[in-house]
Amino acid sequence: MPAQHHPLFRLKSIPQILADSDHPDHRLKKTLTVWDLTALGIGAIIGTGIFVLIGTAVVGDAHRPGAGPGIVLSFILSGITCALAALCYAEFAAMIPVAGSAYTYSYATLGEFLAWITGWNLILEYGVACVAVAIGWSGYFNNILGTLGIVLPAWATHSPGSGGLINLPAAMIVLLVTAVLVRGVKESARTTGFIVLIKIAVIIFFIAVGARSVEPANWSPFMPYGFQGVGAAAAIIFFAYVGFDAVSTTAEEARHPQRDIPIGIIASLFICTILYVLVAAVLTGLVPYDQIDVHAPVAEALRIAGFHWGAAVVATGAVAGITSVLFVMMIGQIRIFFAMSRDGLLGPWLSKVHPRFGTPHHATILTGVAVSLLAAFIPIGEAADMTNIGTLFAFVLVCTGVLILRKTNPHHPRPFRIPLMPWIPLLGIAACLGLMAFLPTLTWIRFIIWTVIGTLVYFGYGMRHSRLSQEAPGDAPAVAGR
Ligand code: ALA
Repeated sequence: MPAQHHPLFRLKSIPQILADSDHPDHRLKKTLTVWDLTALGIGAIIGTGIFVLIGTAVVGDAHRPGAGPGIVLSFILSGITCALAALCYAEFAAMIPVAGSAYTYSYATLGEFLAWITGWNLILEYGVACVAVAIGWSGYFNNILGTLGIVLPAWATHSPGSGGLINLPAAMIVLLVTAVLVRGVKESARTTGFIVLIKIAVIIFFIAVGARSVEPANWSPFMPYGFQGVGAAAAIIFFAYVGFDAVSTTAEEARHPQRDIPIGIIASLFICTILYVLVAAVLTGLVPYDQIDVHAPVAEALRIAGFHWGAAVVATGAVAGITSVLFVMMIGQIRIFFAMSRDGLLGPWLSKVHPRFGTPHHATILTGVAVSLLAAFIPIGEAADMTNIGTLFAFVLVCTGVLILRKTNPHHPRPFRIPLMPWIPLLGIAACLGLMAFLPTLTWIRFIIWTVIGTLVYFGYGMRHSRLSQEAPGDAPAVAGR
């Protein structure tokens, strides 16, 4: 059997992907403009990373040193890594404008096995990210309750690894979001736009109010733990950028996907990077780096600086903003389960649609229960590290896919072409691997175990049940897009 006909390497061709998505039964309305797409990106990006994880990134934790005020550099490093990957996403998304994601792109270029591994990693990017997002939500929720004089006992608000027994608020918010998603929620561009405005307003408010009390002395030493601390922090706050690729998953609903998806991805990433760098500079200028809180750092910094009402404003905005991220990421995870199940790589059970609500309720409930259990019992740092390693690896595969597709299918129209080929994807791969290298050994061990489990599931189930396996080998195009 020629290598390309082996099940592991079978490809879903671009025309086949486009035809699947254009089927009248599940064709989506094309309504999103470039503004909607940028708002959507920002809606998925700004959340727990900037409002919560920045604390651990500055201070450090049991596994690694913090960046101190050098966190500004960490945000730039992580932002550049994402920009390189974003350019690769943009080329793919403009070329294959369907409701896919890295998983779809891999299916068209790297073959079924690596597509499966990409999808398996997207479970870390979206599903496990929801865990960290929910725990971050809980931190700010408790902060608001504290402002109102209500203090919940520590055992009920922190996981065993962080000084409690169970994180009830985190588990509750996930179940609440799950219930709403099972009933069906229209992702309305208008609601997203409104919440995005609140988030940006709160961040600009923090920058403006905080900047007046910045004490430049707090910026030195700038890198208390040297580049090791800056790199380790970059690998943590990479989480703050996770989600920009959500824009590419809505390609099917965009009015002019070829032009607007690349703009939407790159614009949202650019705006967030600027805001993040400013927040990082103000935060570390307001409070000595080793006194920064790790549960609600941005609000607490204002409180320490004496702006009590300002702290309450930031905490309220953070809760609203983080809730919207939770919705986007949960929906992302459900769509991924749905797509993998529709392709036969996961059980058909997962793509069942509720007879009355018309929602993929099985995928939703599975996601909701798993995320809420994990959010109740594991610490935020561990969930964020797993998200980051899985997402970075998925980015490596996307960058590789772009390189391969330029070789195997050079003539397919590319409305957006990455400049400086092959350097951008090559640098993207190097930058992602570089950030991964800064993640703790324990995260690597867990990631390897996760990959082994994924591989077993593929060989035990997906390979034989794949929809493409129902076709004769000759039917499966050897080169994507032919
Ligand atoms: N980037 C998203 C956040 O920080 C996942 O919450």
